[in-house]
Amino acid sequence: MDVFEERVAVVTGAASGIGLASATRFAQLGMRVVLADIEREALDGAVSNLRGEGHEVLGVETDVRELDAIRHLASATLDAFGQVNVLHNNAGVVRAGRIEELSIADWEWVLGVDLWSVIYGVKTFLPLIREAGDGHIVNTASSAGLQSSPEIGPYNVAKFGVVALTETLQLELRAEKSAIGASVLCPGAIATRITESERNRSDAAAETETSRRFNASASKIVEQGHSPESVAERIVEAIRAREFWILTHPDWIDVLRKRVEGMEDGRRLVTGFGG
Ligand SMILES: NC(=O)c1ccc[n+]([C@@H]2O[C@H](COP(=O)([O-])OP(=O)(O)OC[C@H]3O[C@@H](n4cnc5c(N)ncnc54)[C@H](O)[C@@H]3O)[C@@H](O)[C@H]2O)c1
Repeated sequence: MDVFEERVAVVTGAASGIGLASATRFAQLGMRVVLADIEREALDGAVSNLRGEGHEVLGVETDVRELDAIRHLASATLDAFGQVNVLHNNAGVVRAGRIEELSIADWEWVLGVDLWSVIYGVKTFLPLIREAGDGHIVNTASSAGLQSSPEIGPYNVAKFGVVALTETLQLELRAEKSAIGASVLCPGAIATRITESERNRSDAAAETETSRRFNASASKIVEQGHSPESVAERIVEAIRAREFWILTHPDWIDVLRKRVEGMEDGRRLVTGFGG
C-alpha cells in the first residue's frame, strides 16, 4: 500500500508509546485513524490532541482480550469512516516472574492482551480490509518473539505466537498474490510505559521479588531505548515497501545468528541479551 491519504487505520494500544506514535504518524499522512485502548483517560487525551492538530480520528475504549470488544471496534470504525485499510495490532503487556511462580491468571492476562487480541484482530478485520480492496496488517511482536529471555515466559510465548501467526498470514496472502500485505514488528528497547503494564490490569497481581527486580532493570533499558516516533516511521516505510520483518535494532540479527549456531551445537541456549 503506498497511498495513505483518505485511507482508514485502526491501532490498538493507541493511547501510549508505540501505538500512539503509529496512530499519530498515520494521521499526519492524511489517514483517518481509530485509536483503541483500555485506558480511557489516556485515550481521550490522545484523541483530543490529534483532533486539536486537525486530524480526523475516533477513540474507542476497547479491551482487546474480548472478541466482542474487537467486533465492536470494527463496527464503530465502519460507522465512522466506512472502510478499513490498515490494522495495527499493537496493545501489549508484560508480567515478570519465573515459570514456577507465575499464576494461571498471569498467563491468561498476558496471552489475552498480547496474543488472543491479535488473533481476534486478524480474524475480524481481514475480511473488512479485503472489502476495501487493498491494505496492510502490522502485528507488534517483540525481539522476545524471536529469542526468549528468562522470567517473562508468557510474554515470550505470546510474542513467538504473534510472529508465527503473522508469518502464516503473509505466506497465505503472498500465495494468492493479494493486494493486502502483513508485517511483524519486532522492537528492541523502545522508550514507552511497557514496564508499567500492571496499570491496566483489573486483577493486578502483587509485586514479587522477581517482578520488582525485572521491572527496575528493564525500566532503565527501556528509558534509553529508541523513540516510539522512529518505530512509527519504520512501520510506514515497511508498509510502503511491503517488508515483512520490521526490526528496530539491526544488531538483533547477530543474536539470531547465535541462536541458529546454538541449534547446530545442540546444547547452547542464547538469551535475548546475547548470553
Ligand atoms: N517498549 C518496548 O521496549 C517494547 C519492545 C518490544 C515490544 N514492545 C511491544 O510494543 C507494544 C506497545 O507497547 P509500548 O511499549 O508502547 O507500551 P505502553 O505501555 O506505552 O503502551 C501499551 C498500550 O497498550 C494498552 N493496553 C494494555 N492492555 C490493554 C487491553 N487489555 N486492551 C487494550 N489496550 C490495552 C495500554 O493502555 C497502553 O496504552 C506491545 O505489544 C509491547 O509488547 C515494546
